[in-house]
Amino acid sequence: MSRILLFLAAADPAKADLVDSGSVVSLDGIPYYVGGVSVGQLGTNETRDAIGQAGMVPGIDLFPITIIDTPGTELQGLDLLDITAQYDKEDDVFQPAFLKTIYLRSATTSSLMLNGSDLEGAFSNLGTSLLITSEDVSGDLKTIGNTRVLMGPISADLPKGPYFVSSATGNVFKVHRLYGDDYLAFIQGVVSDEKGGYTSLPAVTENVMTKSIAVPSRLYYTPSEEQPLAGLRFGVKDIYHVKGVGTSGGNRAYYYLYGARNATCPSIQRLIDLGAVLVGKMGTVQFANGDKPTADWVDFHAPFNPRGDGYQNPSGSSTGSGAGIAAYEWLDLAVGSDTGGSMRGPAGVQGVFGGRPSTGAISMDGVIPLSPVSDSAGIFARSGSLWAKATQSWYPDMKSNYTSYPKIIHSAVSGNVMSAAARAVVDDWVAKLEDFLQVTSTPANFTTQWEKTHGDAPASLGDMLYETYGVYITHDQWALLAKPFFADYAARHGGRQPFVNPGPLSRWQWGQVHATDEVYAQALRNISIFQNWWETDGFGRHDTESCSESLYVWAWSTGEPSYRNAYLEAPTGPPLGFTDSNIPIIAGAPEVVVPIGEIPYNSTVTMQTEYLPVTMALRMARGCDYMLASLVSDLEEAGVLRSVAAGSRLYN
Ligand SMILES: *[C@@H]1O[C@H](CO)[C@@H](O)[C@H](O)[C@H]1NC(C)=O
Ligand SMILES: *[C@@H]1O[C@H](CO)[C@@H](O)[C@H](O)[C@H]1NC(C)=O
Ligand SMILES: *[C@@H]1O[C@H](CO)[C@@H](O)[C@H](O)[C@H]1NC(C)=O
Ligand SMILES: *[C@@H]1O[C@H](CO)[C@@H](O)[C@H](O)[C@H]1NC(C)=O
Ligand SMILES: *[C@@H]1O[C@H](CO)[C@@H](O)[C@H](O)[C@H]1NC(C)=O
Ligand SMILES: *[C@@H]1O[C@H](CO)[C@@H](O)[C@H](O)[C@H]1NC(C)=O
Ligand SMILES: *[C@@H]1O[C@H](CO)[C@@H](O)[C@H](O)[C@H]1NC(C)=O
Repeated sequence: MSRILLFLAAADPAKADLVDSGSVVSLDGIPYYVGGVSVGQLGTNETRDAIGQAGMVPGIDLFPITIIDTPGTELQGLDLLDITAQYDKEDDVFQPAFLKTIYLRSATTSSLMLNGSDLEGAFSNLGTSLLITSEDVSGDLKTIGNTRVLMGPISADLPKGPYFVSSATGNVFKVHRLYGDDYLAFIQGVVSDEKGGYTSLPAVTENVMTKSIAVPSRLYYTPSEEQPLAGLRFGVKDIYHVKGVGTSGGNRAYYYLYGARNATCPSIQRLIDLGAVLVGKMGTVQFANGDKPTADWVDFHAPFNPRGDGYQNPSGSSTGSGAGIAAYEWLDLAVGSDTGGSMRGPAGVQGVFGGRPSTGAISMDGVIPLSPVSDSAGIFARSGSLWAKATQSWYPDMKSNYTSYPKIIHSAVSGNVMSAAARAVVDDWVAKLEDFLQVTSTPANFTTQWEKTHGDAPASLGDMLYETYGVYITHDQWALLAKPFFADYAARHGGRQPFVNPGPLSRWQWGQVHATDEVYAQALRNISIFQNWWETDGFGRHDTESCSESLYVWAWSTGEPSYRNAYLEAPTGPPLGFTDSNIPIIAGAPEVVVPIGEIPYNSTVTMQTEYLPVTMALRMARGCDYMLASLVSDLEEAGVLRSVAAGSRLYN
């Protein structure tokens, strides 16, 4: 065991401040972080010594313990075995070695009667050497077989589950299991400071460039009406500010310049308030732009996409969030953002559920901006039902305002270019969707629709929106982020400019030339023309029964390999042009990418057949996020969509 002590040198050595930042321990070969902040107390001044001596592991202050809530007024040996087997099944942090000491208490108000001769076998089976009971447990036993029995209170608000206790002080600490971030999906792990903020995880178990992420026991959390997401572990793209922890935005100079943040942004605070458990900050393309591996990722290394041969482009900009959800079974949700495809890109190549909501669905305060015109917060999950639950509870003011699903499917798949293998997967899936909604899809082409119905608006949609996205993102990020960042950095560093990756730097330079205030105003006008058209003569009309008149579907990713070691041209500015992926951005409409299958390819890395995801994008009219989420959940329940596994393959 190593005790991690943070020694802060003070000017006056006599006032040196010694802080206990917790410990890394290993129990039966599994590494755990034991927080420096105690969350409760075991025993009283009178009983502590006896408990400490009985529980103690020779030479080590901390001993493992499990708090068990028993439902009835009697506890049978078989019930105890059932309860502990359930703990083992539900929780990857708990393991039987935590049963060496058991704390038993009654989950009801009535007292619990123990029958020593009945429980003896169970305790011997579980290897329990010490049983501590609350005062509402009766039986007056000193021993049960070889198990010593002591009585002593424990802080009432501690939930059931595994803990570590200091034998010297009786302080109780939460247990976090340490997992290696082998896909470099995280920037850093964080743990709660138990005061509403977080600290960077002060613990590592080293691997190749790999940090540890600490996840608390799942047994501590019980979902409720107020906390529907209780216990779900999530990571967040490192552009969202979290109290107590620095934000990198994928840039080292930015991280060190601004240091630890003093507040958690409202969107992340809301997830925490809904019960979700924040475990770390995740990799992002620098300032949420468009860097591609390998050459563009200069300041940080790009996270690894676990699918296929493991050397495919993880896409971005929510790179770590998408890669982490695809890689780690122990992570439930990951927050990213989508300004121009940054959620949908990673969801597509990693074959997970993830999308953008209607613009404005949740506050983007306290988040590094690309542009308020289309910045949006999204969430990744491996299952459609979990994605739907998180979506419906996270975005405020979301309520059900539909009584039926859309009776029109606008399908653009016939115009999407793809291999025959992908085509078979896509066509088969669209047929199942048609079957589920009981409608035949209508081929849709937004370009020809515009040509027919644009009225007084410019004749060419492609020309009107060719540089719109490039103009507003470079204009806004320069003004809102880069300019103050450069000024603050120069002030601190003798007039120097900070390092910025070639991608964002070239975009900002392009913006200063092309995105004048006048051109920016044009961009906003063009956006508003498109929005009006999309919701009247386009495919984004509202409906009183189904919220969105139609569901628009198209193939998002089609299993084409895109290796991360390809040398690409140097970036020269923002992306230009207008495609289907831009429509939700400009229309402010929700679009989710969902995995529908996988197809084989011959990997030039492994020299074997590997598999890559095929995904579809599902789009609704603006404001119909709730219905879209319900549809995804219902499609999964009906077997039209399937949850995916973590790792190389989507389906085990
Ligand atoms: C328990 O002991 C601590 C220090 O040894 C003391 O500060 C505290 O007042 C005691 N508590 C009670 C209830 O006696
Ligand atoms: C205690 O358990 C033993 C063994 O299961 C049983 O024979 C006995 O009747 C029980 N005693 C009481 C008081 O329930
Ligand atoms: C937090 O930091 C921001 C920006 O540095 C500052 O404006 C604000 O006053 C601080 N808030 C608190 C509560 O300290
Ligand atoms: C839409 O129609 C245009 C011609 O008007 C064509 O160039 C384009 O490929 C079509 N797109 C799709 C997705 O079918
Ligand atoms: C706006 O639309 C006009 C008309 O098509 C076009 O000439 C102009 O380049 C567009 N500007 C921007 C910034 O979108
Ligand atoms: C892989 O290569 C083999 C041999 O060239 C070829 O027969 C096969 O069709 C290829 N498979 C795929 C999925 O491209
Ligand atoms: C449904 O509610 C959303 C807000 O949650 C709103 O934007 C949308 O217009 C509503 N749709 C209908 C058809 O009432």
